[in-house]
Amino acid sequence: MGSMEFESHNWIWDGVYYYPHLFGGLMLTAAVLGLSTSYFSGIGVHCLPFYWPDLGIFHKKKYGKKPVRVYMDGCFDLMHYGHANALRQAKTLGDVLVVGVVSDEEIIANKGPPVLSMEERLVLVKGLKWVDEVIANAPYEITEQFMDRLFNEHKIDYIIHGDDPCLLPDGSDAYALAKKVGRYKQIKRTEGVSSTDIVGRILASMRDAEVGNNLSNATAPEQLHSMDAAQAEERRSSKAQVSHFLPTSRRIVQFSNGKGPGPNARVVYIDGAFDLFHAGHVEILKSARKLGDFLLVGIHTDQTVSEHRGIHHPIMHLHERSLSVLACRYVDEVIIGAPWEVTKDMITTFNISLVVHGSIAENNPLLKDVADPYSAPKSMGIFRMLESPKSITTTSVAKRIIANLEAYKIDYGKLPGSVC
Ligand SMILES: *[C@@H]1O[C@H](CO)[C@@H](O)[C@H](O)[C@H]1NC(C)=O
Ligand SMILES: *[C@@H]1O[C@H](CO)[C@@H](O)[C@H](O)[C@H]1NC(C)=O
Ligand SMILES: *[C@@H]1O[C@H](CO)[C@@H](O)[C@H](O)[C@H]1NC(C)=O
Repeated sequence: MGSMEFESHNWIWDGVYYYPHLFGGLMLTAAVLGLSTSYFSGIGVHCLPFYWPDLGIFHKKKYGKKPVRVYMDGCFDLMHYGHANALRQAKTLGDVLVVGVVSDEEIIANKGPPVLSMEERLVLVKGLKWVDEVIANAPYEITEQFMDRLFNEHKIDYIIHGDDPCLLPDGSDAYALAKKVGRYKQIKRTEGVSSTDIVGRILASMRDAEVGNNLSNATAPEQLHSMDAAQAEERRSSKAQVSHFLPTSRRIVQFSNGKGPGPNARVVYIDGAFDLFHAGHVEILKSARKLGDFLLVGIHTDQTVSEHRGIHHPIMHLHERSLSVLACRYVDEVIIGAPWEVTKDMITTFNISLVVHGSIAENNPLLKDVADPYSAPKSMGIFRMLESPKSITTTSVAKRIIANLEAYKIDYGKLPGSVC
């Protein structure tokens, strides 16, 4: 929308822009000079050195730099920080990131029903801080026709894809056309996490933690066979489910806003496990952020989560959970490994004005909490319960994943963030 009014001032750049193969660098310079010469034709030559920067080229340049629109697509079912990182990288290749979210129908036709509905997947994708626009109901395969639509209707300059080969059923390169016209860019996929890995962890967690009514009994046999037996055994027996993800300070910096609260900012604090980051999390973070100017999110340590939810939780580790939360546009900062109890000391240190907590919490009902973790903010009169906007929980998402696996024999290993 912003770009629409923008375009009306910039007809010349539109021309250059949409026919890049017709305009070499020299042609482009000539076009700019041609415009500026006529623009300044009424001004005496002696004035040029003085007025040049203020009147002419400077403004033209400023407005002429049309934002580069890049496109990336995916199913975004079972989304994780690896997808977030891919979109972050895509964003660095342009100014405006447009993300296509594959329709439920297309996923059903190709994979079987998605775990998350279109609505939930849109909430997740829109919640990412690097995403500027979304195209709902994108096709599963990037057809020539859809590519035309991207270029002409959505004014996309480059289509971005990961460095894994993406072949159409006939064996041809799905991005051949985009490559031919020089409108394809590639990103590297390096994150040490996969959907398969996460499903494995969920299965192990659900099986062992006896979440639900003997769910393991209901799902186990086939799933166990489909997984590498030794791997499954390892996951089952060790509570240290090995994640290949190695958090680096650089990755955390890339995901961060890098800004503290402003001078008079009202700091809102919310804490939790934020395991298997889902649409419910996005919604509650959004409501929490609305109550102040700066949202600080405390991510509980793995040990704290285990103590309160059972030994096989969390499914995602502290650093993975922290990245997922940091990727959310409503979050300003996270505490990586927050204590269970919100102390007075913390409130002072971080200048917290308000502590909020969702009405849907997933703590072990058998565990009678001895101490209220929010007694300090409550006594200070700065605690507020937030109605959880969606009754989606980590457990309900995990259950849906398992139910889908069982019913449709979906191979989640073939369901990465981007289509192929
Ligand atoms: C599931 O239920 C069956 C019979 O009801 C029982 O034998 C089995 O041990 C249960 N499995 C788990 C993991 O609780
Ligand atoms: C558990 O498994 C047994 C035998 O495999 C089956 O008869 C029973 O219905 C299952 N229980 C549940 C809750 O699905
Ligand atoms: C602490 O937060 C309040 C707003 O609740 C703000 O007015 C004040 O300036 C902040 N103090 C510091 C030291 O940032």
